[in-house]
Amino acid sequence: MNYDAIVIGAGPAGYVCAIRLAQYGKKVAVVEKQYVGGVCLNVGCIPSKALIQAGKLLKKIREADVMGITAAKVELDVAKLVAWKEGVVGKLTGGVSGLLKNHKVDVHTGTARVVARDKVEVTGADGKPQVLQTANVVVATGSSPIEIPGFAFDGKHVWSSTDALRPTAIPRRMVVIGGGYIGLELGLTYRNLGTEITVVEALDRVLPGMETDLSKEMGRFLKKKGVPVFLNSKALGYRVEKDGSLVLEAEVEGKKQSFPCDVVLSTVGRRPNSKGLGLEELGVKVERGFVQVDKRRQTNVPGIYAIGDVAGQPMLAHKGSHEGLVAAAAIHGDKGAAYDPACIPAVIFTDPEIASVGLGAEEAKAAGFEPVEGRFPFGASGRALSLNEPEGWVKVIADKATDRVLGVHMIGPEVTELVAEAALAIEMGATAGDLAQTIHAHPTLPEAIMEASEAIHGMAVHIFQTPKKH
Ligand code: FAD
Ligand code: NAI
Repeated sequence: MNYDAIVIGAGPAGYVCAIRLAQYGKKVAVVEKQYVGGVCLNVGCIPSKALIQAGKLLKKIREADVMGITAAKVELDVAKLVAWKEGVVGKLTGGVSGLLKNHKVDVHTGTARVVARDKVEVTGADGKPQVLQTANVVVATGSSPIEIPGFAFDGKHVWSSTDALRPTAIPRRMVVIGGGYIGLELGLTYRNLGTEITVVEALDRVLPGMETDLSKEMGRFLKKKGVPVFLNSKALGYRVEKDGSLVLEAEVEGKKQSFPCDVVLSTVGRRPNSKGLGLEELGVKVERGFVQVDKRRQTNVPGIYAIGDVAGQPMLAHKGSHEGLVAAAAIHGDKGAAYDPACIPAVIFTDPEIASVGLGAEEAKAAGFEPVEGRFPFGASGRALSLNEPEGWVKVIADKATDRVLGVHMIGPEVTELVAEAALAIEMGATAGDLAQTIHAHPTLPEAIMEASEAIHGMAVHIFQTPKKH
């Protein structure tokens, strides 16, 4: 078979690219070794959000007595929860398989290797390699969880994120190694489901890659919730006690400390899947595991493209999907095809949620702007109060000279949804004045973005700001 393009990997980067190529009328194949939908649909974004939702619901039920609602007995059926989550995953992955079929994309099940610039070898379950001919190759092989010494994933004592998504019971005590995206999303979910969690983080703050105020605020929330967080700490190893429980040993600020627990969740980052694909043998540049690409997502070898987690940070599904569209357009021959987003939103489904898009104040200064900021607390939002979720705030950063919105950073209810407005504003070059003058429906959470934008000019109505001289 002779293809216009072969996409290796059917995650959110690969399958989106394949569908778009088919929409352009190209003859396309996808090679997938494990699961259509990739990490995101099978063991990442979707199943984690399903469990997170269940955890939040359980918490909401427990907190509902403030509204006069009490449930006599709230029980969690873990098997049913996992089955429901699998059902959500099955609907989406089935939908993607259906879309690929409807677009006449050939799906080859097996492990791919690029054996020549125009040849991909696929080895299926029978172990027999088959060579497919193609004009273009798109590498979309994603990433895998990093294992640290002393904590090999075994699904019993040491869980990877994938293990945490298929529990058979809710553990009583869990130590989470790594206070990043997954550690906090899943750690706080287990807390909502009834587990006592402790976080051991190597650096001096949780969510170290996040905008500083958000990361500090999450640290404060964890403290307020009574979640023990050990910063500047290194997990060294663990032992299994006679009763089957565990004792994790860690170096906390230079001193050894023991943490009794029942399970360890190790979430210390992910590494790109670029090994064993034959890329370096063909002269494709790979640095620290990431395949190097240009604005069109093409590597230094013409006709070989890379997208998604394997092509660089941030390792986010929406970034990979967008790259998939760009690579497809480039292969289609669109001369203007370029990956050049003004911003990439980041959302963390913690409790409370976090969302961040665009520049932080320090980044803005480094980029030559004079940043000015306005804040609005959800405590002053009618909608947040009526949701019984008044915690957190919205911060809008703008350029003093032009009033252009540079960044929006939020922590609080539904901010993972609110961030879309902020991303659109930055992508379209809107000013804080534009956000302030846009009529926002009342009572809604996005009013907080409008008010934070007004606050930049000292004119927020629902918080007191010392009136300026006009
Ligand atoms: P992947 O989704 O990893 O897909 C790559 C595919 O390639 C896989 O199916 C793999 O089997 C296949 N493959 C690899 N090598 C070969 C080969 N040689 N031959 C054939 N097939 C191959 N991101 C978000 O944006 N939002 C979230 O809420 C979010 N939550 C997450 C929660 C968890 C627990 C985890 C682990 C990740 C989460 N992510 C989230 C990250 C997100 O899952 C990834 O950024 C995204 O899946 C990357 O997409 P991709 O297509 O590049 O790779
Ligand atoms: P991460 O990079 O977000 O966090 C890893 C954390 O572990 C960091 O805080 C790091 O300092 C810490 N760490 C590293 N080594 C350590 C050690 N030896 N001991 C203790 N702490 C250590 O990585 P994570 O949580 O594994 O997630 C991987 C990626 O998946 C994320 O970076 C993100 O790109 C993606 N993701 C996105 C989500 C979303 O968009 N909502 C949700 C989950 C994952």
